[in-house]
Amino acid sequence: MLVDGQHFRTIWPTDDGVFEIIDQTKLPFSFEVVRLETAVEAAHAIFDMLVRGAPLIGATAAYGMALAMREDASDDNLSHAYTNLLAARPTAVNLRWAVDEMRALLDPLDPGQRATAAFARAADICDEDAAQCSAIGDHGLELILGAYEKCGKSRPVNILTHCNAGWLATVDWGTATAPIYKAHEKGIPVHVWVDETRPRNQGASLTAWELNQHGVDHTVIVDNAGGHLMQKGQVDLCIVGTDRTTRTGDVCNKIGTYLKALAAADNSVPFYVALPGTTIDWELKHGKDIPIEERAAEEVTEMTGRTRAGNVETMRIVSDGSKAANPAFDVTPAGLVSALITERGIAMANEEALSSLYPEKAKY
Ligand code: MRU
Repeated sequence: MLVDGQHFRTIWPTDDGVFEIIDQTKLPFSFEVVRLETAVEAAHAIFDMLVRGAPLIGATAAYGMALAMREDASDDNLSHAYTNLLAARPTAVNLRWAVDEMRALLDPLDPGQRATAAFARAADICDEDAAQCSAIGDHGLELILGAYEKCGKSRPVNILTHCNAGWLATVDWGTATAPIYKAHEKGIPVHVWVDETRPRNQGASLTAWELNQHGVDHTVIVDNAGGHLMQKGQVDLCIVGTDRTTRTGDVCNKIGTYLKALAAADNSVPFYVALPGTTIDWELKHGKDIPIEERAAEEVTEMTGRTRAGNVETMRIVSDGSKAANPAFDVTPAGLVSALITERGIAMANEEALSSLYPEKAKY
């Protein structure tokens, strides 16, 4: 998508055989590209959230495996890189999918063949993700069009989203934002309510930034405003992303998603979840079995922002001595999800519907 009018992806290989990413910890105040040269640097980029969002975590891990093979293509280093990258973050299942995919490819190869094959597969994973997100956009566009027709084409369609499930969280297009960008391209007027998404503020810092760069009308709201706006009839539909969805349609996403789904159900606002097939965990039946990342208390007790003098600073906002807890994700039960928007089409959030979209994975 666009940054200062120029097309960017979130991750790309360099001519000299490493790869680069956008450092998302610096947004929205500065746009900085970081070069990753080793598998350890790739794992750190995931752990420290220079990259984040389920599909992009997977793409970074794939390139991380490729860098490992460039450094040392032995069996030992393949296992070592696999274990280290997999441990970088626990919730987004795309990470496991990507390192499994790379390992299945690399294991049978001679060490001398591994680096070239790994870089080629990592590039393919990125291209596939961009294509899947574009297809999610095409399918989700129909839902936005439906809402536009429902209001008699008399006003913009109001869409609420939580966290950043935009192009910054994927390779390109985003998941939740892909239908929004497609609608914008088609000239359907859309307005996005952007949840700020405490504690890391992915909505305020990332979603708002990318919508702004792309010229999509949006308004940032505090996380607790969504229910009120729904009661007032100011939200036509919600679209969020997911880090892991079980085969029965339970959706794990950024903390606070569940509360939005509850408010949407109470106000008969459709609640959609956009995801590529790589985010479905076919091994899991119940959302309660998804590992929920617990992050540092400092993310809650402190906030980072730009002062009026123009300096980016971090400050404490909680009384000294108070404890803070920081579960990073929650699970929205399938019953609260109106539908799942995938690259293969729109499915009800249940095992039968998902299995018929992905028959090669089905356990049903
Ligand atoms: O902690 P983050 O920023 O990695 O969490 C990201 C999210 O929760 C996204 O909504 C999810 O990964 C979907 S990304 C298309």
